[in-house]
Amino acid sequence: MLVRAILLLSLTAGAVFARSDQTPLHDKSKTRPPSIVFILLDDLDYQLKSLDYLPFVQKHLVERGTLYRKHFCTTALCCPSRVSLWTGKAAHNTNVTDVNPPYGGYPKFLSQGLNENYLPVWLQNAGYNTYYTGKLFNAHTVENYNTPHAAGFTGSDFLLDPFTYQYLNSSYQRNKDPPVSHEGEYSVDVLAEKAYGFLEDAVEADKPFFLAIAPVAPHSNVEITNLEGSVEDFVANFTPPIPAARHAHLFKDVKVPRTENFNPEKPSGVNWIRTLERQSQENVDANDHFYRNRLRSIQSADEIVDGIISRLEKHGILDDTYVIFSSDNGYHIGQHRLQPGKECSFEEDINIPLIIRGPGVPEGETTDIVTTHTDLAPTILQLAGAPLRADFDGEAIPLTKSGISSAAKTRHEHVNVEYWGFALGEGEFDQSRFHYNNTYKALRVISEHYNFHYSVWCTNEHELYDLKTDPSQLRNLLHEGEAAPETLLGFPLSKVVARLDSLLFVLKSCKGQTCTRPWLALHPAGNVANLHDALSPRFDNFYETEQRRIEYSRCEAGYIVDAEGPQFERDGFVYRHGTQWHEWV
Ligand SMILES: *[C@@H]1O[C@H](CO)[C@@H](O)[C@H](O)[C@H]1NC(C)=O
Ligand SMILES: *[C@@H]1O[C@H](CO)[C@@H](O)[C@H](O)[C@H]1NC(C)=O
Ligand SMILES: *[C@@H]1O[C@H](CO)[C@@H](O)[C@H](O)[C@H]1NC(C)=O
Repeated sequence: MLVRAILLLSLTAGAVFARSDQTPLHDKSKTRPPSIVFILLDDLDYQLKSLDYLPFVQKHLVERGTLYRKHFCTTALCCPSRVSLWTGKAAHNTNVTDVNPPYGGYPKFLSQGLNENYLPVWLQNAGYNTYYTGKLFNAHTVENYNTPHAAGFTGSDFLLDPFTYQYLNSSYQRNKDPPVSHEGEYSVDVLAEKAYGFLEDAVEADKPFFLAIAPVAPHSNVEITNLEGSVEDFVANFTPPIPAARHAHLFKDVKVPRTENFNPEKPSGVNWIRTLERQSQENVDANDHFYRNRLRSIQSADEIVDGIISRLEKHGILDDTYVIFSSDNGYHIGQHRLQPGKECSFEEDINIPLIIRGPGVPEGETTDIVTTHTDLAPTILQLAGAPLRADFDGEAIPLTKSGISSAAKTRHEHVNVEYWGFALGEGEFDQSRFHYNNTYKALRVISEHYNFHYSVWCTNEHELYDLKTDPSQLRNLLHEGEAAPETLLGFPLSKVVARLDSLLFVLKSCKGQTCTRPWLALHPAGNVANLHDALSPRFDNFYETEQRRIEYSRCEAGYIVDAEGPQFERDGFVYRHGTQWHEWV
């Protein structure tokens, strides 16, 4: 493990170069770096099995590329997740934590200085032409789109609020032109033509290119009513996504998968989730309809995958192009009695599709190495042959067979998940719609030997799920009255919890390399690289008595540090373990 610590990134004039144990992805002697197409759906799940209903995604991407089954977003909400995706930084480092001001949205992205500091700008600096069509961020509107324009694009055609989620009345805004309304046209089909147009431009320009395609599907259809007010005052009416007419007849008998956690007999989770009532048959039927319309709405996005692949092939550049397919966050419908929506840290909301095909990427493979959205900007910059940035909170995802198999042994095993504010029920049956105090820190730790979800809420409620024995996350081992096992991994429960809490304690305010190597912050000697190492009884005192615990003093709707208890690197506390060498016993 010490060896890995030394192998870590070397800093040169603000830039970090790829770790030496990664196979170089493209041949540096070739004159041109590869082109990249990124297809980003909105609210597409992995756990509800939507991928099974996408024949072109299966044929062109799953069968010809690698499916990263343990890929996660780090904040289960569109705007924060997209900002993390395009900056390579966790939401606590962008402080774009919501969809609207004051805590989020396009205005917050601007005021945080990120418009000069995100992937398209870096790619242009690396010699790329960059194109984007579809939804960039929330609160990017027909009013504010040009104050200023989103930076870094050779060509752009953005979906704009308040029409972003109106499948049949979208507004798109091209380059420096004013917005154009597409009343009566199907938004995803409008977008398809724009995407193909940019692809032609890109091929004609004869330079390496990055093309992002971000359709609205399968997000709920949302009509905003009081357009007179400011963004914060908009009243939104959520209904199931609307499919293209040619897909409306599909999947008549399909229902939400009836997993163990689907509308369960007993309540689960904590806080407002635990108060939810079991859904009536009428409610379940409506949610099945909601699910079917999601599947129908993504058919037009599936056709875009086919349209792009066939055009890349026609131009003879398919084999030199990386195609990345993902979503901003996941989705739940009925699990834990939840109404359609996201914003929770259950697996349905955070575990999302990631499929990559391209030169050197294994075909028809799946992998369980842990990857997150903060890893994608570094991955793309590395493909572009550009220097990585010291302030990235993620690290490049291995794309080759050897890179993936070595990562299976050495890559980190954690995901840091964070959320601030409220959760929103998007179904017609949600009684209260806004669920406030949905502020929490959560942690996933996944290896061959264990699979945990640990969280601390702003109400100071705690959750621990052992997904090895409880993949549906129905038994919160920290809930009073839950019949918890006395030991986990052969250790008393409290010893495991102490380690998880300390890990999350570091991660909740981590910056840069500490976000991928958090154990190194706790054990500077480099002798602890994972939960297994940390469980050594030698560290009992360190974890059980010397460490501070995560606690909130109150619930806030944004990242107000003062409400979030002790901080790892503040207040004069030292939480690091002594530098003496400790061996596993
Ligand atoms: C569609 O959007 C335009 C503004 O872009 C608006 O004037 C019009 O009323 C909308 N139509 C419908 C049917 O909502
Ligand atoms: C949210 O939490 C605060 C304490 O931080 C509490 O005062 C308030 O009542 C809670 N609100 C709801 C809607 O539960
Ligand atoms: C995040 O932004 C909010 C709103 O502007 C601000 O109040 C808060 O202090 C910021 N948090 C940090 C850690 O900068």
